[in-house]
Amino acid sequence: MLILALDVLERDVALDVARKCGEYVDFIKVNYPLVLSAGIDVVSELSEIRPVIADFKIADIPYTASLIADIAFRHGVRAVIAHGFAGSDMLRAVRDVADRHGGEVYAVTELSSQGGREFMTRHTLEIVDVAKEVGCDGLIAPATRPERIAEIKKRAENLRVICPGVGAQGGRLEDVLKAGADGIIVGRTIYQSEDPARTAREIRERIDGLMK
Ligand code: C5P
Repeated sequence: MLILALDVLERDVALDVARKCGEYVDFIKVNYPLVLSAGIDVVSELSEIRPVIADFKIADIPYTASLIADIAFRHGVRAVIAHGFAGSDMLRAVRDVADRHGGEVYAVTELSSQGGREFMTRHTLEIVDVAKEVGCDGLIAPATRPERIAEIKKRAENLRVICPGVGAQGGRLEDVLKAGADGIIVGRTIYQSEDPARTAREIRERIDGLMK
């Protein structure tokens, strides 16, 4: 599975990159930079090109978290990403909203950045357990630390594990898939390349070759 992280700031650029890369990616992931600068309606427009994952890293009290998730699903997203560290009550609230919309929920285990090690790593496996208990569809795990992916995947059982951090953050596609990831999230390596469609196609081919 290849997920395009579309952290560009302009609506027109986002739609252009999405249209060019659409046939090579399974999902488009949107994050705050795009939504805060282009407005939430861009999410609906992107959803018409490919299914969208709203990476709003929801981490709030259950009531507020439900409102955020509901706005995302009302704009056509297929899935939302919520922080596992916010706890089971919040994940459950987001799960309930997703169920009302027929959508999916992914829980962040630990961030792929160095800072992800400072506090999150200590609790990652507990977060995996809570995500399973709540019935999340998948987990976000760090492509920058393949050894962590293997551990998370083992504990995750049938939850999908998708990994940001390939390319710009230093993670290697081959290592990530070998560690058991079900998909990779790639942003800058694609949308900042000279030819985003060609780069997306090349990554897709590498994934297909490795997952055969
Ligand atoms: O440009 P790059 O490929 O590094 O993009 C990675 C994307 O994944 C960004 O949107 C980033 O916010 C997100 N992300 C991450 N690490 C996590 C969760 C999400 O890099 N643990």
